[in-house]
Amino acid sequence: MPKLKTLYVCQQCGQQSVKWTGRCPGCGAWNSMVEEIVEQASTRQAAPLSMVTPTALADVSLEDASRVATGLKEFDRVLGGGLVPGSVTLVGGEPGIGKSTLLLSMAGSLAAKPHTILYVSGEESLRQTKLRATRLGLSTCAVHLLAHTQLEVILEAVKQLKPDVVIVDSIQVIETDALSSAPGSIGQVRACAYELIREVKESQRALLLVGHVTKEGFLAGPKALEHLVDTVLYFEGEPTSGFRLLRSTKNRFGATYELGVFHMTAEGLVEVANPSELFLSDRTEPVPGCIVTVSLEGSRPLLVEVQALTSPCGIGLPRRRTTGVDFNRLSMLLAVLERRVGLHQLSQQDVFVSSLGGVRLLEPGADLGVAIAIASSLKERPTRKGDVAVGEVGLTGEVRPVTNVLQRLHEAKRVGFARCFVAAQRGLAPVEGIEVVTVRHVRDAVSKALE
Ligand code: TYD
Ligand code: MG
Repeated sequence: MPKLKTLYVCQQCGQQSVKWTGRCPGCGAWNSMVEEIVEQASTRQAAPLSMVTPTALADVSLEDASRVATGLKEFDRVLGGGLVPGSVTLVGGEPGIGKSTLLLSMAGSLAAKPHTILYVSGEESLRQTKLRATRLGLSTCAVHLLAHTQLEVILEAVKQLKPDVVIVDSIQVIETDALSSAPGSIGQVRACAYELIREVKESQRALLLVGHVTKEGFLAGPKALEHLVDTVLYFEGEPTSGFRLLRSTKNRFGATYELGVFHMTAEGLVEVANPSELFLSDRTEPVPGCIVTVSLEGSRPLLVEVQALTSPCGIGLPRRRTTGVDFNRLSMLLAVLERRVGLHQLSQQDVFVSSLGGVRLLEPGADLGVAIAIASSLKERPTRKGDVAVGEVGLTGEVRPVTNVLQRLHEAKRVGFARCFVAAQRGLAPVEGIEVVTVRHVRDAVSKALE
């Protein structure tokens, strides 16, 4: 491939420079010059101007956009029904979370359909990939492997094999000859992703890119690509727990904030079709400090047990620890319980709060459950068996309504819960089979739940 013309371009003001400089000569920003390919305008083939005519919306055909179901139901659910030919999906996640495992399982299940799959493994050798496939029970599947990091080689392989789906694991190790910067730098990642995307868009293949997210942030990683791709998925989970959640944060072909749930086992990822009861304990007798809350992830309600433990602290500052619950949210709830509910002893108590399985409860709807659990532990009084609580708690102690409360009530009823504490709100119709207790203030909720 001929060496293309490259320039250093400032990411903040667009200033160009032939040489790399630590500080942009235009805007003075430090470390903002990134190497980029600049093609001469004359090499691009544009359509003659007279031939450009807009299409009427009604005439646009949807025929090409038929989805390919991957066979992994949870994956399809997050994608919005399957892979769209000509679409680009970015799968991000921390190293070691299971991205390669997920995509290899998907490749195996697609190859059995049969579709032609090209799996480019830039990080692992063919042998390593084969070993993984053997663990996953896919040792004989018809996936085509390529262990290479050179962009030009990968593009050539795509042209020759003409696969339906191309998987590149990971985009951070792919490099192109055209740039002299190191693989993994923003310039390399973007140029390689751009070339791959151009290739698959033209030939209507589906492309999946793996991108590592580091603890510090997204440098040179998924964030730099999000605007180039159609769908962004994040694979996450507590490293110590076997459960893995797949969320979409951008989807041009479906709903975002859909949730897919998997369990990592010795034989690979197992789909969890009905995760709603996954994060509940199987205890039969009520104990102090526990209550269940219904969190809504995309269109999927999840019942999660919240546990709290309060214990008198010795000398020094009381400790507060959380797993799955936001630390700042806990501090706020403790202050509300002290000042608005009158639980003044809390200032001399260590407080520990966790969600079962470490599920991240990102929604404020979990507040009421956390508050009741803490009060229940402090007073050594359990809530009734079959209690659920959903509601956001404000600084004055008022309980505010959450979205889609009916859907949550129905899910709690389905799983067998008998009583639910929710915020008082207009137009809340009773749900048959579950007692709905409306509360306006955390004080009411605590006294009703622990009476
Ligand atoms: P991997 O897919 O390599 O992660 P990533 O590509 O995101 O870096 O998964 C790595 C972890 O998954 C590793 O710690 C081992 C574990 N694992 C299993 O528990 N079971 C399996 O069948 C496989 C293949 C991996
Ligand atoms: Mg990997």
